[in-house]
Amino acid sequence: MHLKILMTASEAVPFAKEGGLADVVGALPKYLKGLGHDVRVVMPRYYKVDRDAYGLRQLPGVLVVPMGIIGMMYCGVYEGRLPGSDVPIYLLEHEEFFGRDPLYDRDNEGYLDNDNRFVFLSRASLEICKMLDFRPDVVHAHDWHTAAAPILLNTAYRHDPHLHEAASLLTIHNMQHQGSFYEGVMDILGIGWQHFNFLELEMNDQVNLLKGGIYHATVLNTVSEGYAREIQTPAFGWGLEGVVRERSPVLRGILNGVDYQEWNPETDRHLPVNFGSDDLSGKALCKRALQREMGLPEREEVPLFGLVTRLVKQKGIDVLAEAIHRMLEMDIQVVLLGAGEPWAHFYFGDVAASHPGRFACRIGYNNGLAHRIEGGCDFFLMPSAFEPCGLNQMYSLRYGTIPIVRATGGLDDSVENFDQAAGTGTGFKFWDLTAGALYDTVGWAVHTWYHHPDAIQALRRRGMAKRFTWEEAAAKYEALYLDAMRLRLGDARFRQKEAERSVPSSIPAPAPPLGKGESLPA
Ligand code: ADP
Ligand code: GLC
Repeated sequence: MHLKILMTASEAVPFAKEGGLADVVGALPKYLKGLGHDVRVVMPRYYKVDRDAYGLRQLPGVLVVPMGIIGMMYCGVYEGRLPGSDVPIYLLEHEEFFGRDPLYDRDNEGYLDNDNRFVFLSRASLEICKMLDFRPDVVHAHDWHTAAAPILLNTAYRHDPHLHEAASLLTIHNMQHQGSFYEGVMDILGIGWQHFNFLELEMNDQVNLLKGGIYHATVLNTVSEGYAREIQTPAFGWGLEGVVRERSPVLRGILNGVDYQEWNPETDRHLPVNFGSDDLSGKALCKRALQREMGLPEREEVPLFGLVTRLVKQKGIDVLAEAIHRMLEMDIQVVLLGAGEPWAHFYFGDVAASHPGRFACRIGYNNGLAHRIEGGCDFFLMPSAFEPCGLNQMYSLRYGTIPIVRATGGLDDSVENFDQAAGTGTGFKFWDLTAGALYDTVGWAVHTWYHHPDAIQALRRRGMAKRFTWEEAAAKYEALYLDAMRLRLGDARFRQKEAERSVPSSIPAPAPPLGKGESLPA
């Protein structure tokens, strides 16, 4: 059955990006379109989104967005296409809320009006369906920023002629950020205070949008199977593990794909020389060029380690900070590209100053350099405290850059630990979130580099042969959308809808509605 999908998110490549969320929202819709679905994306038009560069066209009229006790608010809508596709994207023009940069915070302090900004985004995403006369089968929201959409669908829009049949999917990319605000946000949502209770939106006397989304979404997923299990435990649930467990029958893990048009060493336009797994001589030239670019001695024999990351605790940079001086006692080189917490900017700048020739860092965001680090390094470090999916370890595998990861979430799911005796594995893993474990694992990699070069080449080639495709992920999302619709509509109406669309479906006979405590089919 061809579906109508409305995707709503706070960022999407190439329009605005702070993290991997943007990569997902920029890619997944194209592959859903490839499966024949009518998918449309809604996001804000931030200050930096250049209307002319993307050929955006303003739709006539204004979009009216009810904002509870604030009253009606208005925004303009620009229409464009996700580049390289004909997927429509609608960018909401509201100077007061979105005419700023960075997207969420300044100096690590969230903007004070983030509650209004993202309730507005969620609600506008539903209202726009009326403007476009689009009746989505599924509204697909991402993270806390648009978690209000599933809440509103179940409440304010439950009897809306346009949206009453829409099922919802909430994808959780990160449990740490929950959209927690003062209780008055209930009056902006305008859904009635009866929903401010410990099962639905209330958490520690505050409105918690992610919690409300988890409670109300028809179905849920996270971006790896490992993380889907982890967030049901106190160590990874950030206080919401109970709510997640309650909804575990409708929770799935779907690993993100990689955009191999963008991340392919054979064609990558950011690399000085392209290379493939048949001939790695180009990789050696990329390494030399990277050493030169970063001001490190051009030594072929020394193992070069790379990191490209937001400099925040999630990424284990505190553990790296503790381990780095000891690590640099070994004959290795390390390059780091990142931005984030101010202490880390100073700290790693000092490490570079005190270890010239061994450690080099660039503070800031630089996509080209991120590609060259993937191309030129021998190893890639990801000591994350938690990692819902993680993209760089998957890029690294494709570039023959051996990942060294903490075995958590998507890192654990996508990297197979090296086993020299068996001749298997694609990277090096460690489990304890300690400087000692990181140091030991780097030591293991360095030992293998110097004493078993054949094993390193074999590791590389196994990694380069791995693929994490969006085709595979999109097919799993499609199955989840159908599950969501069946739950929302009930069997009879679902089958009727299928018949209405008149395209034969490959779905097996629908299962009876879920009873309490029952699970979706695996
Ligand atoms: P997260 O979304 O938690 O930051 P992911 O691994 O999913 O982690 O995605 C991070 C994405 O952002 C990757 O595409 C990575 O290459 C990119 N990235 C992170 N920091 C930088 C930076 N300083 N410069 C360029 N790209 C970066
Ligand atoms: C989040 C997670 C990251 C994941 C990304 C895209 O930012 O931190 O692990 O890859 O979302 O799903």
